[in-house]
Amino acid sequence: MSKKIRKIRIITGGGDCSGLNAVINGITKTAVNKYGLEVVGFTRGFAGLYKNDYRPLGLRSVSGIMHEGGTILKSSNKDNLFNYPYRNADGTIVYKDVSDEAVQNLKYLGIDALIVIGGDGTLTSARDFARKGIPVVGVPKTIDNDLPATDVTFGYNTSLETITDALDKIHTTAYSHDRVMVVEVMGRHSGWLALEGGLAGSADVILIPEIPYDLSSVVEKIRQRDAFGRNFSIIVVSEGAKPKDGEVHVREIVEDSADSVRLGGIGQVITDQLAKLVPEHEVRYTNLAYIQRGGITSQFDRALGLLFGVNAVDLLMNGGSGRMVQLKSRKITSIPLTEVVGDGPVGETSRGGGKTVDPDGQYVQAAKSIGICFGDRYRFEEADE
Ligand code: F6P
Repeated sequence: MSKKIRKIRIITGGGDCSGLNAVINGITKTAVNKYGLEVVGFTRGFAGLYKNDYRPLGLRSVSGIMHEGGTILKSSNKDNLFNYPYRNADGTIVYKDVSDEAVQNLKYLGIDALIVIGGDGTLTSARDFARKGIPVVGVPKTIDNDLPATDVTFGYNTSLETITDALDKIHTTAYSHDRVMVVEVMGRHSGWLALEGGLAGSADVILIPEIPYDLSSVVEKIRQRDAFGRNFSIIVVSEGAKPKDGEVHVREIVEDSADSVRLGGIGQVITDQLAKLVPEHEVRYTNLAYIQRGGITSQFDRALGLLFGVNAVDLLMNGGSGRMVQLKSRKITSIPLTEVVGDGPVGETSRGGGKTVDPDGQYVQAAKSIGICFGDRYRFEEADE
């Protein structure tokens, strides 16, 4: 197969994150230098594949992009070509499968293979295009670190740095005003960003999807800190956190997205409730939102992105179509896309849930040992900070 591949295309899909440009850099330089391939990037995710919107990539166009956040190819976490919004003459919108037209485009343009960089939604589309006979290699990406098929995704580390920095800053104003500060972070249904960011940023309470919370436990923690003379508290809330016997807070449903549910806003709900429960404190809410996805890429994410990019091209050229590069025990290897997103029907990710935090695992237990409250119960006295 490797002899036939002359022209490859890159797609960056899903929410952007730091490290995408490092992957593009690694792919393009390896493809050109090592294999003499022609490289082109579709713009704005899979929409570019459907609309024939692309730009050529060469050694010059990827020079100097390693540190930059975002993606020079732009991205989209909508535009699922297997469920694409189509506007009728009367203005109504219907959803259609336009993947066959996309395959025709690829054939017309003489594209031999795709390298698709994305999270589980984008990788599900990659699997479905591989099923249509297109040689595809996947590269795992997400700030949420919720893909079980790899030890870690690039983008996660830079987001953690941003969360830690924000918590350091929020600490000083919390202390100065004796306030309770609620800080919401991303992560979808996995609490990794809240847990590791909260640990590094010395949060007093961390609320994650994996441990449904009871606010009375949070109030107890705040009062315990008050009694200890620490009249401020920092509460880190994962956007997917939910109360005991309650549901997640859905911000929006995006119909033409492979993963249509968008979370967000639970931090405001908790802030309003706490304001009534601890009237002796002012309670303030900060949603870190999209600053977690931007900024200068950390050293770790640059290195991991680059390694993923180089290895994705090697994998493709060595007959590894239908697979995804992964990091396992500090080594880059690969795994079938069907093991990453499941082997279910078109458009469906059926791998039985993302990589979630183990409530009985080392991280949570260590956090509880130092007195961090998870909204369930805490057993240890306040440690001196
Ligand atoms: O998956 C990455 C992510 O940033 C999630 O943490 C978050 O829930 C979601 O994307 C936000 O998506 P959007 O860009 O559509 O608001």
